Amino acid sequence: MTTLLNDTMPAGGRKGGTGETLAIRGGRPLSGRVEVKGAKNLVTKAMVASLLGDTASILHDVPVISDVAVVRSLLEVHGVRVDDGHDQGTLVLDPRDVESAHMEEIDAHAGASRIPILFCGPLLHRLGEAFIPDLGGCRIGDRPIDFHLDALRKFGAVVEKLPSGIRLSAPRGLHGANITLPYPSVGATEQVLLTAVRARGVTELKGAAIEPEIMDLIAVLQKMGAIISYEPNRVLLIEGVDKLSGYEHRAIFDRNEAASWASAALATGGEIFVGGAKQQEMLTFLNVVRKVGGDFDIREDGILFRRGGDLRAVTVETDVHPGFMTDWQQPLIVALTQATGESIVHETVYENRFGFTDALVKMGADITVHPQGLQDGLRRVPRRSLEQAAIITGPTKLTAADITVPDLRGGYSHVIAALTARGESTVRNVGIISRGYEKFFDKLDSLGADFDIVG
Ligand code: UD1
Repeated sequence: MTTLLNDTMPAGGRKGGTGETLAIRGGRPLSGRVEVKGAKNLVTKAMVASLLGDTASILHDVPVISDVAVVRSLLEVHGVRVDDGHDQGTLVLDPRDVESAHMEEIDAHAGASRIPILFCGPLLHRLGEAFIPDLGGCRIGDRPIDFHLDALRKFGAVVEKLPSGIRLSAPRGLHGANITLPYPSVGATEQVLLTAVRARGVTELKGAAIEPEIMDLIAVLQKMGAIISYEPNRVLLIEGVDKLSGYEHRAIFDRNEAASWASAALATGGEIFVGGAKQQEMLTFLNVVRKVGGDFDIREDGILFRRGGDLRAVTVETDVHPGFMTDWQQPLIVALTQATGESIVHETVYENRFGFTDALVKMGADITVHPQGLQDGLRRVPRRSLEQAAIITGPTKLTAADITVPDLRGGYSHVIAALTARGESTVRNVGIISRGYEKFFDKLDSLGADFDIVG
């Protein structure tokens, strides 16, 4: 795996290995400025949307992360010409020669990504068939694709399970459908959007996810010629059209990366200006920063985060938008190990998203995970059967340890924990962090982190 594709640490910098293992000396506040680019969770989907156009699309603010590299090569395997634009971070995607790809080729390029599932609708429209290999993604639960396949069947697709993946075909084309999602899944909502825009007739989607990245995808599709209306109560109405053209779009900023650096400032007691972060998409996160005793200053070109004083315990529950995003909880938990009192984090979106806390406990954090969740009078959303809770009692002094990164956000949290801890930690398997964080080592370096790349 290419782990350093997005880093350019200066000559004489600290690259000593392949970028999989870091030696981190913690105890220093992280301070300085980082820039966040387009959201991973929008950019990769907008790249897939380009398949639907009959002319080239131009996407700006594309981060150099490995998930983008994976989607780029998957598009290329399907005959899309992808060029770097004149400006850094611009991609030109020309889908005029789209063709079928072999399952083995798709499998070889998909890596650990779940994005191939979103190729289904566009490829069914373009070619009448699509293949998807066994899907990866972060190991944070089973991450099933039943909502996706059920929706595709409703559009008229025939789904055939093969030993190596899934083959879909649409012998009679795709038609509009009435679909109700059992849960407002981000990916399944995107699946419906990317399929319905070119299906014959009207599609009504109930129980849709309404994350800002989905709204940005809708904006992309509207630029291409789609007709999508957003009705009250999570309903989307999509009127299928015969033809879509390319788009030009600047991606919404990555609010997950922004929240990660904010938590790093809180955890290490530093001060980080996150260039490109905007208030609207982060309202829920900012409320929690304030409640926990953090401080922020919203500026024209970004948001400055710092510890306002001693951190205080909070209770949060992850939820679909506009709730507290599940990707925000792991970095926040590192900050909560430094807060006075008992914090509770209810995870309601995924069934296995506290595995990363084992490493924090090894470093001295006081965290108890309740795999069945906790009943709590403060709960805002109904319980889900997969729910879990973590109780974090602080403040605790973290000490260095030898730890291994489990997944993208958990991995980021491990690095931040090591930067908060006294002594020299060894953090392994950090390459996975490049799936979602652009120039991660460069950014750590510019914030004053003391680390070496040792393997
Ligand atoms: C996306 C984001 C991820 C974020 C998540 C929730 C991308 C690339 N990733 O992931 O960062 O954490 O939204 O905001 O955009 N589910 C099913 N069946 C399905 C699909 C989903 O049961 O067919 C369940 C999942 O297991 C999970 C829940 O629905 O419990 C939410 O998943 P979903 O919103 O689909 O997440 P992703 O789109 O994979």
